[in-house]
Amino acid sequence: MTGDDAAAPPVVLKLGGSLITEKDSPETLDEPALDAACDAVADALAAGDVDRLAVVHGGGSFGHHHASERGVSTTEGTRDADAVAAIHGAMKRLNARVLERLRERGVPAVPVHPLSLAARTGGTGGGLDLPLGSTATLLDEGFVPVLHGDGVATAGDGVTVVSGDELVVELAAGLGARRVGVCSTVPGVLDGDGAVIPEVDDFESVADALGASDATDVSGGMAAKVRELLALDAPAYVFGADGLSPFLRGEGAGTRID
Ligand code: IPE
Repeated sequence: MTGDDAAAPPVVLKLGGSLITEKDSPETLDEPALDAACDAVADALAAGDVDRLAVVHGGGSFGHHHASERGVSTTEGTRDADAVAAIHGAMKRLNARVLERLRERGVPAVPVHPLSLAARTGGTGGGLDLPLGSTATLLDEGFVPVLHGDGVATAGDGVTVVSGDELVVELAAGLGARRVGVCSTVPGVLDGDGAVIPEVDDFESVADALGASDATDVSGGMAAKVRELLALDAPAYVFGADGLSPFLRGEGAGTRID
């Protein structure tokens, strides 16, 4: 790897938990969807469409199931170590399966576990402190770091949930991402008639159209996603499975949020 490659801004991609798992059935993968997503990532890296890539995946039926059972969310913490172990353990099981499928396809994917790194030092109302030294160095060394929604130490509240969307925002800002992609089961941000809104540049203009997620989602659904992505310098795209390959090729996909 040359110095020029090391300096190139990375692409940050989130694979939604709803995409890669069966969200209503505890700890169950959506195998075809996960395989297709991993194929798209492997193909894009092999073709040289993307050279530096950081991936984040959500919780789906792994994280959300355990978190909601124990009343833990991004704003409600726990001081019960068993609850933390249940949430983190489930997310590590999902992460291991995502990594395995990526590596099977030749993607040099390695885990980065947010519980071991991050903190909400200002409590639930404060920002997320996510040190990026390990992720940045892994990228420089040619790896594809794969982070995931997780538990996070939270001042005054024990351990809360950190969503994949929050991690994407921190990674994109901290690494100076070139582009950000959020791939889920919906083809983009939808208007009141269910049509994809091609571009969003302020929250108020789409606030009415953004309802809450109907399946169990302890971390906020589409409205929270849009808010967080709007705060980024890099263009972000929200798209469905069909948008993943175009996004990785550098094309538009779903809704552009900028
Ligand atoms: C949540 O991550 C992780 C846990 C519940 C521990 P996300 O909120 O990003 O997951 P999805 O993509 O909505 O499933």
